Amino acid sequence: MFRLTPILLLMILTACGKPLPPQPQDPLTVGKRIYFARCVTCHQRNGSGTLKNRRWAADFTEPGGVLAKPDEELVQSIMKGKKGDFSRMPAFEPILSPEQVDAVLLYIRKTYWQGE
Ligand code: HEC
Repeated sequence: MFRLTPILLLMILTACGKPLPPQPQDPLTVGKRIYFARCVTCHQRNGSGTLKNRRWAADFTEPGGVLAKPDEELVQSIMKGKKGDFSRMPAFEPILSPEQVDAVLLYIRKTYWQGE
C-alpha cells in the first residue's frame, strides 16, 4: 500500500493538469490553406494568374502589379469581388472572416510578390 503512494500521487497530479489552451495558428499556414482551397483555381499555384498561356486573374508576381496597392484596397477587392479583363473574382465576404482575408493576403505577399 505504502509503495503505491508515489504512483497514486502522480495519477492525481496528471488528472488535475489543465488541458493545453488551443495553440494559436500561424496566419501564414491559415492563409496557405485558404489560398489552395479558394483562390488557386484562378490565381494558380505560382500566383501568376496564368494557365496554358491564358490569363485568368491578377498576377501576384509582378513587382509593380496589383500587390503594389495598399492592403486596405486589396482587402476590399477580396471582400467585395472584382471584375477584371479576364474573368470576375467573386465576393468572399460571405465566405471568409476578416482575419481569414488578412491571412490569405499575407500568404500571397510573402509567397509571390517580389516588390517592396
Ligand atoms: C473566379 C476567379 C477568381 C478567384 C476564385 C479568385 N480571384 Fe482574385 N482576382 C480575379 C480577377 C479576375 C481579378 C481582377 C484582375 C484584374 O483586375 O484584371 C482578381 C484580383 C485579385 C486581387 C487584386 C485586387 C485589386 O484590387 O487589384 C487580389 C488581391 C486577389 N484577386 C486575391 C484573391 C484571393 C485572396 C482569392 C481567394 C480567397 C481570390 N483572389 C480568388 C479572379 C479570381
